[in-house]
Amino acid sequence: MTDRQIRTTAHGSADVVILGAGPAGLTLGNLLLAAGIDCVVLERADRDRVRTRARAGFLAANTVRVLDRHGLADGLHRRGLPHGTCEFRTEVGSFRLDYSTLGRGEQHTVYPQQDLVTDLLTHYLAEGGRIHFETEAQRVDDADGTRPAVTVRDADGRPGRWQSRYVAGCDGRHGAARHSLPATARRHHRDHGVSWLGLLAEAPPSLDAVGYALHRRGFAGHMARTPEVTRYYLQWERGTAADAWSQERIWDELGLRMRTADHGPLHQGRILQRSVIDLQSDVMEPLRHGSLLLAGDAASLPAPAAAKGANLAVLEAELLAESLIDDLAHGDPTALDQYSRRCLAHIWRAQEFSHWMIQLLHAPLGSDEESFFHESLRRSRIESLRTSRIHQDWFAENYVGI
Ligand code: APR
Repeated sequence: MTDRQIRTTAHGSADVVILGAGPAGLTLGNLLLAAGIDCVVLERADRDRVRTRARAGFLAANTVRVLDRHGLADGLHRRGLPHGTCEFRTEVGSFRLDYSTLGRGEQHTVYPQQDLVTDLLTHYLAEGGRIHFETEAQRVDDADGTRPAVTVRDADGRPGRWQSRYVAGCDGRHGAARHSLPATARRHHRDHGVSWLGLLAEAPPSLDAVGYALHRRGFAGHMARTPEVTRYYLQWERGTAADAWSQERIWDELGLRMRTADHGPLHQGRILQRSVIDLQSDVMEPLRHGSLLLAGDAASLPAPAAAKGANLAVLEAELLAESLIDDLAHGDPTALDQYSRRCLAHIWRAQEFSHWMIQLLHAPLGSDEESFFHESLRRSRIESLRTSRIHQDWFAENYVGI
């Protein structure tokens, strides 16, 4: 299919209209297509943007299992790198946890999210899947709860309308699905009051582990992406612009917080991307509103501290696909009733662990009594993680699990 053919919007219908071509939408699309369900993906961005947008990169063992089960894991097996160690650098020394030998003995696969999305898209198109890029969903209307219609607009502003039996809202936290929810929908939201400067550096990883540096100047993080590119994070004063610091100042600060004086220098390189991330979490409840179903970031935003976003998205897409297939292919109208409850159990588990990680990695930076108290709790928690095997097993199970 040419780009021109898959760009133009107009009107149409499908049993399932999927909003968004991220990990959630494309996993769902592939699973429905394989089961012979009539579906279409509507995506706001153009094809290149979808394939190149750098996001997360740590795939949990369960995510790999899900993708494997459906023949979607060839690329990540070929190019992904196994990963099972993290290193904590603290005021009182550093320690490593080989989490692949702790807990359930599972490890991550490091595979950039844009590569996963590209694989999912390639597979979907090769199997004859329908997708319309540069097609922004604006609203989902579902007056009687059985025949929803999605109002769309293409890149030139031309309107269109898609009719379906179900709409899968996989269009992220600012998408049309969330904006179309009824007043009864609840959004549980937490702002953690901490911000990060997220950096993508053209430099090889400096550690053979995920690095978490806890410093009185704030947190710094190191995460491998590929042999040429590394992700770094710096705890960042809320409200400060992403470009406020020069590259030199950023590398100096990363070096200081990551204690390069004790551990050796970081491989430095050009900063390719930078953005400020305010650490926030939310959960929508329920995830089903009549014929509109939420998955991925549209369902729940986990703060990025524990890399759960893409992993939850793939898990939810599989659960949603199972329910939709039971309903549409096997005629079980009750199949979707359990979808929300099944997903929310996983979502709250991931939220709880992300929350725990945020408290492990940050403390208020002030010198008042409250800050002292929090900082002392944090140090005690780290010490427990360093010394208690039971604590380490719990950490490993939650860190890599989903
Ligand atoms: N209409 C159509 N498409 C939309 C609209 C809209 N109104 N709004 C957003 N989109 C598209 C985006 O362009 C994007 O391609 O929806 C897609 C959503 O993809 P992701 O943001 O990747 O969300 P999801 O598939 O839920 O994946 C979850 O992976 O790395 C993590 O941080 C990432 O947690 C996120 C996750």
